[in-house]
Amino acid sequence: MDVKKIAVIGAGAMGNGIAQVGLMAGYMVTMNDVEQRFIDRGVSTIRDSLSKFVAKGRITEDQNRDMLARLTTSTDLKSAVADVDLVIEAVFEDLDLKKKIFKDLDAYARPDTVLASNTSSMSITSIASAAGRPERVVGMHFFNPAVLLKLVEVIYANQSSDAAVQTAYDVAKKMNKVPVIVKKDSPGFIYNRVNAPTSLLLQIILDKGSPTPAQFDAVFKPLMPMTPFELLDYVGLDVVEHIQAYYAQTLSKDYAPRKALVDLVKGGTLGKKTGKGIYDWSAGRPLIDTSNPTAEYDFTHMVALQVNEATKCLEEGVTNDPGDIDLAMANGGGGMGPFVLAKSIGWDKLVARCTELADKFGIEVFRPTKTMREGKVEV
Ligand code: 3HC
Repeated sequence: MDVKKIAVIGAGAMGNGIAQVGLMAGYMVTMNDVEQRFIDRGVSTIRDSLSKFVAKGRITEDQNRDMLARLTTSTDLKSAVADVDLVIEAVFEDLDLKKKIFKDLDAYARPDTVLASNTSSMSITSIASAAGRPERVVGMHFFNPAVLLKLVEVIYANQSSDAAVQTAYDVAKKMNKVPVIVKKDSPGFIYNRVNAPTSLLLQIILDKGSPTPAQFDAVFKPLMPMTPFELLDYVGLDVVEHIQAYYAQTLSKDYAPRKALVDLVKGGTLGKKTGKGIYDWSAGRPLIDTSNPTAEYDFTHMVALQVNEATKCLEEGVTNDPGDIDLAMANGGGGMGPFVLAKSIGWDKLVARCTELADKFGIEVFRPTKTMREGKVEV
């Protein structure tokens, strides 16, 4: 399908980022949310971000004006999707809410419109079941910040047609993204699934209170654009809790959200978006005390868990191509792919790390897989 008009449902961090990427790629974009104040905040974020690109000379003033002129907004879902070629839903991670929206989208959008969900981890097949056109429903998972990060996971639900997946893939390409096809609709798809056990490890450490987040993050500060605990805050602790609860239902009880995280969320301490989470974000970005790095953990603990989970993606057929996993991981948040790292660090060392963590915390999802123990994945 030759897509010209896109509607984005949800004007939050992901929604406004996706809308902006659509504008920058030349599409007509309608951004919808339930209240005008959410739309106003989203539009203001888009304006600020485009101004940054103008200041850097990445786009001209004229292009900026043209992009903003192609943006329309609406609090009315029906009119927002009435004549668009593609809808990208980016609302809160609540399966019932998403299903309700997809039922409405199916009623309001043209029969040939492709409906995509930006869900972080939930079943696209289940979301698609609410629409009377499951063959035209796909996953289109962007990464935060959507304007800067390149990865878009394009996900096949059980009934998605090749044509609908191709439409989403082509749009992602035109958006100058790196689309990676996810063949099996399974919790967390590729990127979030590979990071699922490391997110659990961070929560266990937070619960124990030792090492402190700053002592842990100090190890990673020289290696990553954003350190592991900082990233939880950046994504949003409520989002992390929702995703973990979903993994607990679908992957393993090991993933049940831990008390320290749950308490932070209950207290409204959600991370960057509320100005405080694990760290204080009131100055824009947390100042992490890197003077006292822990000796208990190093880079290989995190990589080992990622590689192990990446082997599960292969064993379960989430994708058959280890190169796609590395491509996704390198473009979703920066850094290197797990299989390239496994080759350079050594599979035996990583297997030992997984066993060490599985025994230390009694967590079976950390246990090394058969593929991991064989250590033969080539990229
Ligand atoms: N629009 C335009 N420019 C922006 C911008 C925006 N929204 N945000 C940042 N920038 C620019 C800054 O102005 C800065 O430009 P400069 O170098 O010319 O000054 C540049 O980007 C870098 O920004 P910062 O100096 O503020 O900080 P960093 O170098 O650390 O970059 C970051 C910020 C891109 C967010 C980087 O820290 C990063 O990549 N972090 C990792 C994020 C990540 O891993 N995301 C994935 C999360 S998982 C997810 O989203 C999945 C979901 O399902 C949960």
